[in-house]
Amino acid sequence: MIPPKQVQDVIDAARIEDVVGEFVTLKRRGVNLIGLCPFHGERTPSFNVNPARNIFKCFGCGKGGDAVTFLREHESLTYLEALRWLARKYGIELQEVERSPEQLAQIQLADALYIVNDFGVQHFQHQLFDTDEGKSVALSYFKKRGLREDTIRTFGLGYAPDERDLLIRHARSTGHNIDLLKKVGLCSQDGGRDFFRARVMFAIHNLSGKVAAFAGRTMLSPSASGANIPKYVNSPETEIYVKNKTLYGAFQAKKAIRQLDECILVEGYMDVISLHQAGIQNVVASSGTSLTEGQLQLIKRNTNNLKILYDGDSAGIKAALRGLDLALEQDLNVKICLLPDGHDPDSYVQEFGGDKFNEFVTTNAKDFILFKTQVLLEETKNDPVKRAGLIKDIVASIAKIPDPIKRSVYLRACSNLLEVPESVLVAESNKLITGTIKKREEKSARLPEAASDSSPYKHGEEWPTEYPPMPADGDVPPDFHAPHLPKKAALPPRTESVQELDIIRMLILYGNQVLEREGVTVAQFILTDIEESLASFDNPLYGQIAVECHALLLQDKQFDQHFFIQHESSAVCELAINLIATPWEFSPNWEAMWNYPLQNQKIPDLNFDLDMKQALLRFKLLKVMKMCDANQVRIKSAYQLGDDDGVTRFMKIQQKLNETRNDIAKQLGTVVLPK
Ligand code: UTP
Ligand code: MN
Repeated sequence: MIPPKQVQDVIDAARIEDVVGEFVTLKRRGVNLIGLCPFHGERTPSFNVNPARNIFKCFGCGKGGDAVTFLREHESLTYLEALRWLARKYGIELQEVERSPEQLAQIQLADALYIVNDFGVQHFQHQLFDTDEGKSVALSYFKKRGLREDTIRTFGLGYAPDERDLLIRHARSTGHNIDLLKKVGLCSQDGGRDFFRARVMFAIHNLSGKVAAFAGRTMLSPSASGANIPKYVNSPETEIYVKNKTLYGAFQAKKAIRQLDECILVEGYMDVISLHQAGIQNVVASSGTSLTEGQLQLIKRNTNNLKILYDGDSAGIKAALRGLDLALEQDLNVKICLLPDGHDPDSYVQEFGGDKFNEFVTTNAKDFILFKTQVLLEETKNDPVKRAGLIKDIVASIAKIPDPIKRSVYLRACSNLLEVPESVLVAESNKLITGTIKKREEKSARLPEAASDSSPYKHGEEWPTEYPPMPADGDVPPDFHAPHLPKKAALPPRTESVQELDIIRMLILYGNQVLEREGVTVAQFILTDIEESLASFDNPLYGQIAVECHALLLQDKQFDQHFFIQHESSAVCELAINLIATPWEFSPNWEAMWNYPLQNQKIPDLNFDLDMKQALLRFKLLKVMKMCDANQVRIKSAYQLGDDDGVTRFMKIQQKLNETRNDIAKQLGTVVLPK
């Protein structure tokens, strides 16, 4: 096992042209290098290596990727082997860490649970395919429902006959541990009864295709079963099955979701299976539980585009609306499609086929805003009071979208749809956003520790060395004037918001000054530049000011120092007065932190142009570094989950972030350092 930080080092060090060059003769052509593709036979070179982007791509056979991909494909190495290969090449000594005894025990337990579940699948499949009862009761049921045998196998479907302890006996006779059987919920806690009886069985796979749990649908007719036998039952949660982080069908859908860059969300097991069989494979189900944040994050790791496909009844609509807000918060692009009343995706596709299904979805999928508006308009009819509530309701959904540009597009659309002036909607949305920020402020005032929610580290804690707050040495060009911090100097926690205050200082002091070169005001320049970060200020007061200024700009209103001095919030007044009255003093460790002389200190008013651009760069650097931190956490957790794909993907994101970060730092270096 290689620590994430070292994985990063290796990936940062790897140069695609060096690595490929060991196996392929490359010639320079322009900025790229070309050669004969090692993956397919060719006479004229179509194999391209792009050093700037650090990737290869063959325009003949389509293969492409980074150094790790190349080694995996060309040398048939595993991910870890490829990393070790690169480490050797670049002389990076890997300190592969031993797993702790607890970690080992955890992994062993998980392995044992998977083995028992595997036994379960085999047992249920045997019952389905190889016994008379299975064939006559369950296999015929699946076939009657239109499933082909290959589909039944792909999804690990099976059958649990109506017998007291068939599975337990089978497990005993094949030497399986009954305690583990209890643990995964395949039998009762006293070990006396099978858990799934008289049910057709659905295997629930994890992302890498291992069986994490089961669901069983009853085969008893409603009259015979009485009212209290549930239609579906599920395995309990275990170390390997966390319901709210599991999506049914995700393993089978993963590839199609990435290829099509869209995920379709349905409600039921049969919906996923029938659609998949009809060739619509980018489908997952929340199955039973209402959609959770964890499930949406799973989707977001593969695509930003979500299509929610629910039944057209009122329960379906309610579920869709609930899922919608949650998905918006995750910054997913959401479309919604309701099926004709009485149909679910399974019944629709079985009756009309895949083509008709696609056609229906294409014509009926609505942008979420249209969907919500229509549903609510229907509900409120012409009642003006209810209508006002509806408008608020819709704006509340829009306000959940983190991306300000998307948000403003939706506000405009909404204004057209509802025939309400856009400025009213903008004001309402900003009120809600400011409210959220205020709530966060109150929360963090009550619970000082909670203020660091967005950061994995507590206040004042030293930054762990594995997450370098400044660009690492590896990928920084030699002319880069990185601030070198004294080793011991603990950086202020990133929640301290010096950079944010700097932005606010610019807005208050120089907001309405016009920049000569750009022909816009300082406020316009700043707020357009940081639009995407407006909602993510750490300091709630500064965030509130930025959001408010932005709202004013959108309404074409100018503001000057008086606006802030006269502000209704006393906190804003106080801040403004302090900033205006005192000549700006840079914090004493500013120079140590950023290693640049404060050339504008004396007469900042004349230098607001340069001053502001530096402030912007520092602000952006801060935000990117935070994103780096967040992404590192993701790498770590993917790594702990053994999710190699995830690790690779987040590493790529990390590379991009590092590039951005270095780029900003470099600009800061050139802007800031004289000569
Ligand atoms: P449905 O009742 O619509 O079932 O529940 P279905 O998928 O259409 O199944 P068929 O077509 O009758 O065989 C939709 C989903 O809600 C969950 C299941 O995930 C189901 O697929 N559910 C339903 C439960 O978890 N428990 C239940 O008792 C019922
Ligand atoms: Mn159904």
